[in-house]
Amino acid sequence: MSFTWGVATSAYQIEGAAAEDGRTPSIWDTFAHEVVGEHGDVACDHYHRMPSDVRLIKSLGVNAYRFSVSWTRVQPGGRGPANKPGLDFYDRLVDELLANGIDPWLTLYHWDLPQELEDAGGWPHRDTPYRFADFSQLVVDRLRDRVRHWQTLNEPWCAAFLGYEHGVHAPGRRSFEDAMRATHHLLLAHGLATDVAKNADNSVGIALNIGTATPHTDDPVDIAAGRRAHENVAGIFLDPIVHGHYPASILADHGHLLPIQDGDLEIINRRPDVLGVNFYFGQDFAGRDEQGNTHDAAGRAIVREIKPDAPETAMGWPITPDRFTTLLLRLHREYGLPLAVTENGAVYDDDPDPEGFVADEERTAYLKAHVEAALAARDQGADVRGYFAWSLMDNFEWAEGYRRRFGLVAVDYETQRRTPKQSALWFRERIRSGA
Ligand code: NOJ
Repeated sequence: MSFTWGVATSAYQIEGAAAEDGRTPSIWDTFAHEVVGEHGDVACDHYHRMPSDVRLIKSLGVNAYRFSVSWTRVQPGGRGPANKPGLDFYDRLVDELLANGIDPWLTLYHWDLPQELEDAGGWPHRDTPYRFADFSQLVVDRLRDRVRHWQTLNEPWCAAFLGYEHGVHAPGRRSFEDAMRATHHLLLAHGLATDVAKNADNSVGIALNIGTATPHTDDPVDIAAGRRAHENVAGIFLDPIVHGHYPASILADHGHLLPIQDGDLEIINRRPDVLGVNFYFGQDFAGRDEQGNTHDAAGRAIVREIKPDAPETAMGWPITPDRFTTLLLRLHREYGLPLAVTENGAVYDDDPDPEGFVADEERTAYLKAHVEAALAARDQGADVRGYFAWSLMDNFEWAEGYRRRFGLVAVDYETQRRTPKQSALWFRERIRSGA
């Protein structure tokens, strides 16, 4: 079967044109302006440069492009009918991609909740998933004849926990209870949107951030901590989606915070046709704190994260390609789903030459190691169908702003000039030589 090679982006990170053609603010417009200090008002100006960006994508030799749809461009304020110019933009993007032989992989939600819906309660509120289903219907009605690969949500763990518990992402709340409520409603959103998007010929899935959750040693206490770490971040979404129930450990500790109503788990239990795996780095987990205790004062089992002893990217993220192979094999074994690597990439301190060219050997080495790790898992039996590099080009890296660059293509934000880096040239060659 042919292998999907792609590059990925998301709407708020690249589009700009934040107040054009009827688009209204999302929680990320608000948070970026009020907290981050940099914002996506212009970003990579992709909204105005889309046709030449599609030619750029084609020049990389990929056969797929993963992007997301801005909710407030398509449905300003998050309610009511479609905004024609907003939907037209994605219609043109899809046509342009297809005309260039690039398969569109469309993500419905990459973190940009309409601000009005946050004001009405946000993801902790039960109405939000139903609003999301309505928005999804508008997109599906317009694009279902041409888009075959759909993803409901991108990294709902980040949306729920970074956004509602840790307050480091939009909307910046700090409440564990809100994060648990958001989790349940994001899961409902996945189930409802899957039913909206699914038909006999397409593929509908979800993209999750899944770490390796490797036990620090083979001590059973560490093995239990590794399992628990997996359940806290990935199992909390995957188990309800694939098996129709939350992990027992989540229910035992926090079940009372999940606003489950009769019938919800039947709605949520929509097996993805393809599970998108967003992978950047592995972590170790130990079941003892530094004093050797296995439980905290409240009686909960210790799950202590330990950074693996490995070189790091400029983001401080450890580079652990071997664990990536192990992870993909484990997901294949435990969940039995077809997999696609929907994001993988690295930040380094790029140093462009006078022509704007970046000889990014470290990023190239990172991508190479992870592409080979994914293909190794495929050789060993995991049904890995594709690999998307994050990201097509440098862009707005959320709370980190523009200084963190993940692109295979360099962006000069003053001139909006795009220059493929060495990693992009390597990627094109790697694709040419086949999976
Ligand atoms: C995950 C997110 O989906 C993406 O938007 C982000 O830029 C990358 N990881 C890198 O942090």
